[in-house]
Amino acid sequence: MARPASRFVCQSCGESFLRWEGQCRACGAWNSLVETLVRQDPRPRAPRPSAAGGSRPVPLHDLAEADLRRVPVGIGELDRVLGGGLVPGSIVLLGGEPGIGKSTLVLAAAAGVAAGRIAAGAGAARVAGAPVAEVPRILYASGEESAGQLRLRARRMGLTEGTAGDAIRVLAETDVERILDHARAMRPALLIVDSIQTMTVDDLSGPAGSVGQVREAALRLLEYAKADGVPVVLVGHVTKDGTLAGPKTLEHLVDAVLTLEGERGGTLRLLRATKNRFGSTEEVGVFAMGEAGLREVADPARAFLVDHPAAAPGSAVAATLEGTRPILVEVQALVAPAGLGLPRRTVNGLDANRLALLIAVLGRRAGVGLGTYDVYASVAGGMTVQEPAVDLPLALALASSLRDRPLREGTVAAGEVGLLGELRAVAGLERRLREAERLGFERAIVPAGGRAGERIPDRIGRLHVVACATLADALAAGLAVVPPAGPDRERGAHAVADLPR
Ligand code: TYD
Ligand code: MG
Repeated sequence: MARPASRFVCQSCGESFLRWEGQCRACGAWNSLVETLVRQDPRPRAPRPSAAGGSRPVPLHDLAEADLRRVPVGIGELDRVLGGGLVPGSIVLLGGEPGIGKSTLVLAAAAGVAAGRIAAGAGAARVAGAPVAEVPRILYASGEESAGQLRLRARRMGLTEGTAGDAIRVLAETDVERILDHARAMRPALLIVDSIQTMTVDDLSGPAGSVGQVREAALRLLEYAKADGVPVVLVGHVTKDGTLAGPKTLEHLVDAVLTLEGERGGTLRLLRATKNRFGSTEEVGVFAMGEAGLREVADPARAFLVDHPAAAPGSAVAATLEGTRPILVEVQALVAPAGLGLPRRTVNGLDANRLALLIAVLGRRAGVGLGTYDVYASVAGGMTVQEPAVDLPLALALASSLRDRPLREGTVAAGEVGLLGELRAVAGLERRLREAERLGFERAIVPAGGRAGERIPDRIGRLHVVACATLADALAAGLAVVPPAGPDRERGAHAVADLPR
């Protein structure tokens, strides 16, 4: 068979060339040419149902609900992030840094699907007369590791025996078409491709991992998923700057993008959905990497909190909300006099622009000048916090480090800081505070005035709520000198709450 022609198409202007060049001759963009297959003769695809039956416009109220039969993975935290399980015919991309535990997670998911299908299979076959496979099979195509390496991991996770040991079929292969040949013959309940960056398509000359290869490989897997109604999970690597390697188009192409994050040295892992066509985005799942693979964490709200012997300067606890789940995290800051030259600003797990903005607002509106200091800020436990509610705890941590004075023990904070130094309401405040109370916090510093005029209670259970209108008030409340324990203590708390607004 003749090799299909490939062209190098500029991703910025669409012009195509016969050979790769560093700069597009049409629009002048650099490194924008991507090898792309040109299909003169459109390949015979599965017959399109719309062509024969005739598609027709349907009024919104007559639309049938999509029949989303989901395949539960059987791992609660993963099912939660997926929105209830894998949807047949959908493609999920699981991204993360190397070594973070992607292969471990997909292998666990494969075992879960195998176990779930057997339980459901017997009944479903009788009821619906559907062709449910006697033995559900999962095809795990690995271009990354040899079958031997995979077996070592499976043994560590205790999956070599029993259902999973038989149901999960491993294929060490990087050629997409060959993987698809096996898949079509086997009709698996789930296809896993680990990783998409190692896959190649014969018709393209670029190396594995190049934009053209990654995109074409993903396209063919997508075609297969839709045609055969099989859920496909792609594992993808994330580059240093945190983006999924390969083209952005990969993210547009797939139905859901999950990312696994955490500190490689640490044990905690956070699974996030950044895109999900079949569920809520921004749900998170929390796992801990252990001796036998990833475990679900029993109490995710406190998983990221670090136990200190005593309150330390530069530390503040933030009550964050990830989707619908409150998670308390410790924000840490260290400020130190800068030498000559530009002061350093280093963040880990926080937004660097947000830090710069807070430093400016602290200086101009709250009398906390950090202009001549090096500033380091991070979230303990390797978690990334992007939401604005982390502003206030971060500002408190910065001021606390500069003044070398710890926040009072048992204090938690949440609030957005505006450019005028005002505190702005955050979503789901009460839910955050209830969780903080449950975890034993005694004092919360929050913006005065809730969203849409919502009233903020003075107290939630044992949690004393200190509502502040401005950042300056919040700093005064947070860094107030605490009188010694005893009957004075309660008076101290009132003095703080009564600070002038
Ligand atoms: P892996 O799933 O191979 O990561 P990825 O596919 O994202 O590159 O797992 C990476 C690390 O996890 C590896 O360094 C070993 C560790 N690990 C455990 O600590 N316990 C386990 O049970 C397993 C399977 C792995
Ligand atoms: Mg891997």
